Amino acid sequence: MKKFLIAGNWKMNNTLNMSEELFSAINIAVSNINENDLANIEIVVCPNFVNIYHIVLKASGIPVYVGAQNCYTEIKGAFTGEISATMLKSVGCKYCIVGHSERRTIFKESNEFINKKVKVLIENDINPILCIGETIEERKSSNTFSVLKSQLDNCLKDISTDDLPKIVIAYEPVWAIGTGISATTKEIAEAHNWLRHYLIANYGEIIANKIYILYGGSLTENNADETFSIENVNGGLIGGASLVADKFLSIIHTAIAKSKENDL
Ligand code: PGA
Repeated sequence: MKKFLIAGNWKMNNTLNMSEELFSAINIAVSNINENDLANIEIVVCPNFVNIYHIVLKASGIPVYVGAQNCYTEIKGAFTGEISATMLKSVGCKYCIVGHSERRTIFKESNEFINKKVKVLIENDINPILCIGETIEERKSSNTFSVLKSQLDNCLKDISTDDLPKIVIAYEPVWAIGTGISATTKEIAEAHNWLRHYLIANYGEIIANKIYILYGGSLTENNADETFSIENVNGGLIGGASLVADKFLSIIHTAIAKSKENDL
């Protein structure tokens, strides 16, 4: 049985009205989906910080969870402009994206810094969605797997085997994010197989098989079917297409169909 997690990363988009409108459309459509169809699907939306609480309130009673796009490593104090895991917890966030390539590149976040965020999120009962992925230069120089290994070794440092299933891994090749050029089926399969084996080697098969490994990078309603058919792909982290309700819903329906195929 294959389980899927479909997460929308809204990035720095949408005023409050726009977020509410987008979420209303998702809410109405998801509320109409049969409960059994959603048995193996988890849906998450990640609005910007100022819209989060409004969306959490609107999501109450429907099977859509709300996540943040970032958090700081400390719980409170003199860190002007930052948001802590306890604050996210207090407004009802269940997930938080960490290590997104935009934060690694634009805000110079290191694996060690991301590791601190993973830990503080787990301590506060929020599931980290840990993004990893290689740049085009790293891929061209055949360094994809050494980059993924170093990102995982360092971002998951000192995370206990018991806590590991709380973490979602999102494989997002940097060159595929927002470019309209998704990785090929072969590239995704290779990376996801490698990731599953890494998890098995480090944490054992039972734990490793509980971990969602998402694909992200120009995932749309057009390539979701092919992507979700790949072994070891347990859903997606979706940027651009998650800002259009119909596209995001189409991806959700593809995941439902795939979870049923795998159920047979
Ligand atoms: P994209 O973004 O779907 O727009 O490529 C994915 C992401 O950044 O998580």
